[in-house]
Amino acid sequence: MADESKKWVLLVTAQTPTNIAVIKYWGKRDESLILPINDSISVTLDPAHLCTTTTVSVSPSFDQDRMWLNGKEISLSGGRFQRCLKEIRARASDVEDEKKGIKITKKDWENLHLHISSYNNFPTAAGLASSAAGFACLVFSLAKLMNVKEDLGQLSAIARQGSGSACRSLYGGFVKWIMGKNDDGSDSIAVQLADEKHWDELVIVIAVVSSRQKETSSTSGMRETVETSMLIKHRAKEVVPKRIVEMEEAIKKRDFPSFARLACADSNQFHAVCMDTSPPIFYMNDTSHRIIGCVEKWNRAEESPQVAYTFDAGPNAVMIARNRKVAALLLQRLLFHFPPNADTDLNSYVIGDKSILQDVGVKDMKDVEALPPPPEIKDNIPAHKYKGDVSYFICTRPGKGPVVLSDESQALLCPETGMPK
Ligand code: DP6
Repeated sequence: MADESKKWVLLVTAQTPTNIAVIKYWGKRDESLILPINDSISVTLDPAHLCTTTTVSVSPSFDQDRMWLNGKEISLSGGRFQRCLKEIRARASDVEDEKKGIKITKKDWENLHLHISSYNNFPTAAGLASSAAGFACLVFSLAKLMNVKEDLGQLSAIARQGSGSACRSLYGGFVKWIMGKNDDGSDSIAVQLADEKHWDELVIVIAVVSSRQKETSSTSGMRETVETSMLIKHRAKEVVPKRIVEMEEAIKKRDFPSFARLACADSNQFHAVCMDTSPPIFYMNDTSHRIIGCVEKWNRAEESPQVAYTFDAGPNAVMIARNRKVAALLLQRLLFHFPPNADTDLNSYVIGDKSILQDVGVKDMKDVEALPPPPEIKDNIPAHKYKGDVSYFICTRPGKGPVVLSDESQALLCPETGMPK
C-alpha cells in the first residue's frame, strides 16, 4: 500500500454524454440486474450541450464513500450505486502514479474509500436522461481511476445496473443495447452501430416543455406496464425485433425517411403501452401533442419526412431534423407556435448551438414576433400561439462518447483534499 503518512489524493475526471432512444427500452425481465424485454437503439447527444462531468478520487484519508451531485451531497446507499461500485471494485487492478509516489495494489482497493462529484451541464429536473449520463460517467471514470481492463461493452453491462439507459451512453453516435439471453446479464450489453461522424448532417432540437406535475419514474412506470399491459407483450415480441432490424438498416444507409418513420412510430407505441397500463400513465401533455401535430402536418405537406420526433418518460420533445436547413425551418415553426413569456430574451430561450438562429434569421424577440405562420397552415384556420408552454429549446447534434478530461483544472474535487471545489 502507498505510504499512509502521505495523505495523497488520486483523481480522474471524465465527461459522458446523454442519449435519446429512437427504439425505446420499456420493461424489464429482471428488476435487480436491469435486464430489458427488448433491444433498444439510441442516438448519443453532443456532450458540448448535454453531459455529465464526474470526478472520482481515492485517498487513504477518506473514511467512507461519499458523493456530491451538482454540489449537494447525496446518499450512496441505494442498491444501484452499491451494485455499480461493487462490480467496478471487483475489477480494479494495480495503479501506480510515479509522479505522486502512489502505488495501489489490486487488494488495496477493497479498503480504500472514494469521493465522487458529479455535475450536469443541463438542469437535472428538466427530465433529460440525467441518470443515463450520470451512471455511465460514474462507471467510466471509476474504471479509469481503478485501472479496470474491461472493454466498453463490459463497462456498459455495469452501467446498465445503475440505470438501463446508461449502458447506451458509453459510446458516441448510434448505439444498440442488446437485451441478451443469459440470466446473469453478462450478454446484455451496448454496442456501437456507427460513430457520430457517420451521419453528421442530423440536427437535434429539444423542446423542454413546462410541466407542473411530477411524473411517474421510468422504473416504476415500466414495472406497472409489464404487470398490467397486454400490448407490451406484443410490442416486445412482435414489433420491436422487426423495428430494430429496420432501424439498423436505416442508420447504416442514412435513410432519413425510414429513420423518421420508425422513430416516430416507436415513440408513439411506447406512449400507447403507457396508456395501456393500469392505471394508465400519461407522460406527454397538451404541448407534447401540439408539437407532434405541428411536425406531422409539416412532414405530410412535404414529399417525405423532414423531422423525426421522440418523447421519453416526460413531456419534452426531442426532434431530429435531416439537416441544418430543415432544422432552421423547424425552429422557425416552433418559435412561431411556442413563443416565450414576456421578458424572456432569445439568448436564454434557445440554448446549445445557437448558430442555427442565424439560419432562422432571428436576432431578438422582435424578429421572433414577426415570424410568418408556416405555409402548411391553411388560410382559413387561424394559426395558434402557445406562449410560455415551452420553457426553452436546446439545439444540438449527435455526439461523441465518454472522454477523460486530463486538465486538472476541470476536476470537480480539490486535488489536495478530495473535497468539492
Ligand atoms: C423512456 O433507464 O431511466 O427513456 O433502467 O429503471 O433506470 P431504469 O430506467 P431508465 O428508462 C429509460 C426509459 C426511456 C426509454 C429509453 O431510454 O430507451
